[in-house]
Amino acid sequence: MSKRILVTGVGGAPGFDLARSLLRLGCKVLAADADPYAAGFLLPETTAHVLPPAMDPGYRASMLRLCANARPDAILSTVERELPRLIALRRPLADLGITTWLPERHAATACGDKARFAAVLTAHGVPTPRTVLPDQLDGAPHGLLVVKPRHGQGAKGVHVCRTREQARVLCELIPAPIVQEHITGREFTADCLIDRAGRASVILRYRLLVKGGLAVVSRTFNDPEVDECVRAALTATGVTGACCVQGFIRDDSPDRVLITEANARVGGGFPASVAAGADYIGQYLRGLFRQDVDHGQLTYKPDVTLTKYVETLTTSEGKTR
Ligand SMILES: Nc1ncnc2c1ncn2[C@@H]1O[C@H](COP(=O)(O)OP(=O)(O)OP(=O)(O)O)[C@@H](O)[C@H]1O
Ligand SMILES: [Mg+2]
Repeated sequence: MSKRILVTGVGGAPGFDLARSLLRLGCKVLAADADPYAAGFLLPETTAHVLPPAMDPGYRASMLRLCANARPDAILSTVERELPRLIALRRPLADLGITTWLPERHAATACGDKARFAAVLTAHGVPTPRTVLPDQLDGAPHGLLVVKPRHGQGAKGVHVCRTREQARVLCELIPAPIVQEHITGREFTADCLIDRAGRASVILRYRLLVKGGLAVVSRTFNDPEVDECVRAALTATGVTGACCVQGFIRDDSPDRVLITEANARVGGGFPASVAAGADYIGQYLRGLFRQDVDHGQLTYKPDVTLTKYVETLTTSEGKTR
């Protein structure tokens, strides 16, 4: 099927790799990003569309205008802050004949707001780092603390500090921050696909080397306890579609597995899961267009390692961009 898919966030690794995977599967890609220099605009055979940032008042009208003019068959977003905006656009997009696969609003909030995520997981008994808001700093855990924006993506504004006083200062600098217990252990990501009936496939990979929030070296693995915790986190949030869940494995602690995050989008390292045999994007497309997701195509081999590297994509002369 040669579908025309609008992919947003092509300047980041998730959007860039998603666009590239869709091209390889024979789709036509309309690439969107708020940054005119987004790397995904340089992918061959794509059209480039600059949109206002998700939080900009002009986002809604610009997105609708782009959709009305370009008429993609579907939209896949890799920008978490965009999800509430797209959820609000569900009806007008459907009226334009554009397919979306968006989580329910409560699930988008549970994933997109790290304070809410911690509360939801705790309420469902899923182990997650202890988390407080700035006005509860006196109750912050002892030891190293992480201060980060509750609506962050791409590890922007994530800081580690030693004392509550330092955390207090960081809270003044970071927009809408949370303060969290600092966790050490083996970091992992689960590339998940949850079909419309709620059945999930979970592909586990270690984040062996993380740079700028991106797992640049990933290795697939099997671990029934991690799998179970990830599934519990998916159930707690109620997310459907593609979702990447992150956490830590601590072999020296009673709570061996901790879940730190769920992002209601593909994860930046998902090509590791594809290399390990999972038809992750193929099945995502099937689910998007309301065909049955074949979970038998989402099995994978452990110990497949993927290394990403920042390289020169193109050079050009003149001021074409
Ligand atoms: N509580 C914590 N303890 C230890 N490290 C942490 C903690 N929270 C975040 N980190 C580190 O910071 C990285 C980014 O944090 P987090 O995933 O919460 O932010 P994000 O901006 O949503 O990033 P992403 O786009 O990768 O989802 C994590 O991959 C992890 O390496
Ligand atoms: Mg995140």
